[in-house]
Amino acid sequence: DWTMAAYRETKVREIREQVGDKRVICGLSGGVDSSVAAILIHEAIGDQLTCVFVDHGLLRLNEREQVETMFRDHYNIPLVVVDAEERFMAGLEGVSDPEKKRKFIGAEFINVFEEEANKLGGADFLAQGTLYPDVIESVSFTGGPSVTIKSHHNVGGLPERMNMKLVEPLRELFKDEVRELGRELGLPDIFVGRHPFPGPGLAIRIPGEVTKDRCDILRKADAIYLDEIRKAGLYDAIWQAFAVLLPVKTVGVMGDYRTYDSVCGLRAVTSTDGMTADVYPFDAAFLTGCATRIVNEVQGVNRVVYDYTSKPPGTIEWE
Ligand code: XMP
Repeated sequence: DWTMAAYRETKVREIREQVGDKRVICGLSGGVDSSVAAILIHEAIGDQLTCVFVDHGLLRLNEREQVETMFRDHYNIPLVVVDAEERFMAGLEGVSDPEKKRKFIGAEFINVFEEEANKLGGADFLAQGTLYPDVIESVSFTGGPSVTIKSHHNVGGLPERMNMKLVEPLRELFKDEVRELGRELGLPDIFVGRHPFPGPGLAIRIPGEVTKDRCDILRKADAIYLDEIRKAGLYDAIWQAFAVLLPVKTVGVMGDYRTYDSVCGLRAVTSTDGMTADVYPFDAAFLTGCATRIVNEVQGVNRVVYDYTSKPPGTIEWE
């Protein structure tokens, strides 16, 4: 009968057959899917695999360091980290339309990735952590037939442009199965259990124009919120929790002073596949605690609100 250990062996064999002695490049996003794909492929073909991690400046606090530690130090997988923050911020200047942001980030990601792949001398295969729901969603994503609600960010288009074939060992799996496979491959629980994070990163959690300053503010608020969630032991009961930074300023008071700063929104949902979602029902004291800490510790935020919208009619991300 079917076990994850058996699945791992089968996939390792299949990857070896597909790839032979050729080279594979894998784009790491820091998320669970691409990480598990990379580790599985590394198990199959060793250093014929090189991973590329693009730091577009839209990552969560310490995310880049965590990926570096995990892949370089723990797994010894060849890893190239590209510092691309400046060019992404430059390209996002003046852009506030959600689809324009998504399209720019997706296209620029491919440009950076292609440049790095060329520097590495190219590769015959591109590895991706595509899951079964991704396969379905690319046909009709949340909105029903032929309606694009959001352009998904992935490295689509690159394989043809660079004449690469795809290696997608997770195509039959759902998210919970990928996590199980990750554990099977020795990934620590804290990494395997991480909430999903979208390719366009913090850019789609900052309605309006994205700047480095706003990313820095959001990173701090988000880290505090997640710290509180972990401390309350709620992290694993939630599908996704994150902060958003609104392009709205409101008046507040700190001590004897008037403040005029941004609003931070908090979101937390339960879900099994991201296609539908329910709001996580925190108790009021928990949210009050988060709001107090964020306003006290994050300069630039003086008000915190909680998002009570399920999906549908809302989406999980704000853009
Ligand atoms: P929405 O906001 O559409 O999100 O309800 C559903 C799930 O998909 C994630 N998401 C993305 N993941 N690239 C990704 O890899 C993207 O462009 C993207 N947009 C949304 C979102 O975080 C949620 O888990």
